[in-house]
Amino acid sequence: MQKVFIKSYGCQMNVYDAQRMADALAPNGYVETKTIEDAELVVLNTCHIREKAADKVYSELGRIRRMKRDRKAEGLSMQVVVAGCVAQAEGAEILRREPAVDLVIGPQSYHRLPEMLQAAQLKPVVDTEFPVEDKFSALPDPSQASIKNRGVTAFVTVQEGCDKFCTFCVVPYTRGAELSRPLDAVLTEIRKLAAGGVREVTLLGQNVNAWHGLDAHGTSLPFETLLQQVAQLEGIERIRYMTSHPRDMTAALINAHREIPELMPYLHLPVQSGSDRILDTMNRQHSRDDYFAIIEQMRAIRPDVALSSDFIVGFPGESERDFLDTMDLISRVGYAAAYSFKYSPRPGTPAADLDNQVPEQAKDERLAALQALIAAQQTAFNQATVGRTIPVLVEKAGRKPGQMAGKSPYLQAVQIDDAKARIGDIVEVNVTGLGTNSLYARELS
Ligand code: 5AD
Ligand code: SF4
Repeated sequence: MQKVFIKSYGCQMNVYDAQRMADALAPNGYVETKTIEDAELVVLNTCHIREKAADKVYSELGRIRRMKRDRKAEGLSMQVVVAGCVAQAEGAEILRREPAVDLVIGPQSYHRLPEMLQAAQLKPVVDTEFPVEDKFSALPDPSQASIKNRGVTAFVTVQEGCDKFCTFCVVPYTRGAELSRPLDAVLTEIRKLAAGGVREVTLLGQNVNAWHGLDAHGTSLPFETLLQQVAQLEGIERIRYMTSHPRDMTAALINAHREIPELMPYLHLPVQSGSDRILDTMNRQHSRDDYFAIIEQMRAIRPDVALSSDFIVGFPGESERDFLDTMDLISRVGYAAAYSFKYSPRPGTPAADLDNQVPEQAKDERLAALQALIAAQQTAFNQATVGRTIPVLVEKAGRKPGQMAGKSPYLQAVQIDDAKARIGDIVEVNVTGLGTNSLYARELS
């Protein structure tokens, strides 16, 4: 038996990929460890979306190089793998900068991981091809024991890659063209997860609502059909999906939020900017009014829907006026949460070559103002839950004796006092108070 330590950076798709890598390694006798010092195999599952994320990888590799040397001095081995989007983007450059690395493997090749590790025993290997075979169908299933270990919520990647080419984004280059997994492959995977105790699935994709997988007859289906089919699977009581693009938010998909009770009333719909001029140079292919129209339709269908988004401040050419348009959009929509970032020029993307880059100080100031506005909206949203009755999916034991911890439909962490409910139950609770990171609640019986 050998121990593998996997560290994931970035988005939920990497979290999912990390589990699938563990599943791929399990038949070869690898078990996961949470302590890097004990590991015979270390995998960094990297993110390339912003410069800082990529920098972190190199500093972590420096630390691992020293660990590998110390282990070697004790006669122990350690293989080091760089996976994920930095691996895809930088390839052999990683081996040049960090000789402690044994294998560089891109996100499309994880099913070849055991084989590549063997080859890397002899000399360092780089595998960043986009293979013709579908990695998902080639990856082994997780065991029932490891599903149970991972808890009652699960991620399932249903779509990878992106054809949208927003001018700031590396994803179309690192994850390649859009690919949708076939309907039956997704349903089979979720059925197994449900049998292992999973109650909530989050369907993942860089453009998840552009999913157009094939059914058994080779007919391409729209995303809402996938949602309907997943909702019918026994044991699946909650469905979420992310990340969506406003362009693919069709009327039929919005309507599905009325028809499918399992769909949680919480939508992550990134808009990036509230300025039409900037949306245009970002190549987002929609206007701010298009975005407002989607939100309006969504709220008409599901008045209890809450929203989150991604924002970029300091995109090249963004003026104070443009930024104020973004602040205005946020005020008008009202978010439950949001992720916000300073624009980070990514090599090879069109926006990196624009000459009207925004000075760092302006980016800092705008980010601080935007985050203050979002934080105020988030607090107001959480406060508005106090006193209400909401359903909570119980995920684990709580912080204090007698408490259980779970999530609201809006992904708020909830601590239930004196709970009778067990892990996997969905219980109605009355929200009694608001802590720093969670809601407090009392179970209704
Ligand atoms: N700079 C800053 N933020 C970025 N994102 C993507 N590319 C960049 C970049 N170059 C953000 C977007 C996207 C989220 C996943 O990361 O907001 O929605
Ligand atoms: Fe990147 Fe735009 Fe595709 Fe999202 S839609 S992955 S931001 S290119």
